[in-house]
Amino acid sequence: MKRIKRIGILTAGGDCPGLNAAIRAVGKAAMGLYGIEVIGIRDGFLGLIEERMMALDKATLAGILTVGGTILGTSRIKPHRMEVKGEVRDVRDVIVKNCKRHGLEALVCIGGGGTHKNALRLIEKGLNIITLPKTIDNDVAMTDTSFGFDTAVGIATEAVDRLHSTAHSHHRIIVAEIMGHRAGWLALGAGLAGGADVILIPEIPYNVKKIVTAIQRRSRHGTNFSIVAVAEGALSRDDGARFKAVQARKARATTEKELLKIKGDLAELYHQHAGNTMRLAAQLERLTGLESRVTILGYVQRGGAPSAVDRLLATRLGTACAELIREGVFGVMVAARGEGTQAVPINQVAGKRKQVRPDHPWIASARAVGTCFGD
Ligand code: F6P
Repeated sequence: MKRIKRIGILTAGGDCPGLNAAIRAVGKAAMGLYGIEVIGIRDGFLGLIEERMMALDKATLAGILTVGGTILGTSRIKPHRMEVKGEVRDVRDVIVKNCKRHGLEALVCIGGGGTHKNALRLIEKGLNIITLPKTIDNDVAMTDTSFGFDTAVGIATEAVDRLHSTAHSHHRIIVAEIMGHRAGWLALGAGLAGGADVILIPEIPYNVKKIVTAIQRRSRHGTNFSIVAVAEGALSRDDGARFKAVQARKARATTEKELLKIKGDLAELYHQHAGNTMRLAAQLERLTGLESRVTILGYVQRGGAPSAVDRLLATRLGTACAELIREGVFGVMVAARGEGTQAVPINQVAGKRKQVRPDHPWIASARAVGTCFGD
């Protein structure tokens, strides 16, 4: 087996707490234990294309464990479809060439769903790649969890806690929009931990009438306020049916022309969905007669220092990653599995999304304590 002497490391997609802890863990273990040189690549895959490299050493890795964001910077691009001077181009060969030029024998790509798809497309070009799962959304497939999620749940839970007292004082409905992309983990986790009265997630399309009934039942029992934790991707039953119909067309599509049309239709549906939380709050105000307010938590959920749980997770995945590199294992994601880690082939991760199962224990517990899911 050929000994790996030099690797590159990058962070891609949306940032999250724990990225620096992971960079530090891979870097310190690779350099300190295995004598591997580590090059940081700035701004994700863009940095590989534009050769934005920086040498990492003990000094650059010091003091970053507790720091939010990513010292390397990040971006959301697709190397197989990159817009260059108004033209869409496949620039994967440029990346292969630049890796060779900089002597990078392997790449560590830290990211979520999009990063895993990009990684797979670069593996197809012959690169040695190993990935680490990060995202506040917790939607990366084939891993128990991803770093970033625990911190974000903590932030969103604190927000739900704080909204309780003001909603109570003013006898209001407060609709709190929580991130999570097309998965409900974050809204479900924070809603359950924060005691939200209603939790709406993409996996369980809602019926507004059911939410109104739950809020009115609380009013009849003398509680004139409610907290609704709504995932940014939550869908009403009607919208859910529309999305499902387009997805079904996508699964049946055979030609590029059909796929292009479906892509346009999906984009239109997402466009129409924007502002859903505001419309929902207005509907609830009209139908319950209770004043309603909206709080969109947004990027606050992604910022700041990682929780202890995320630091631990990022560190154990990062050190396991360095060990796999030393062993020459590539084409895998270092997944969190129980107390340990597992190397999962990237082709089993890319293009998949881990969503909340309707029979997940968190859903069962929430229902058992009387939480309404709008179904
Ligand atoms: O994937 C993390 C996430 O914060 C999602 O929850 C959210 O939908 C998305 O990123 C926002 O993306 P951007 O940073 O591109 O606005």
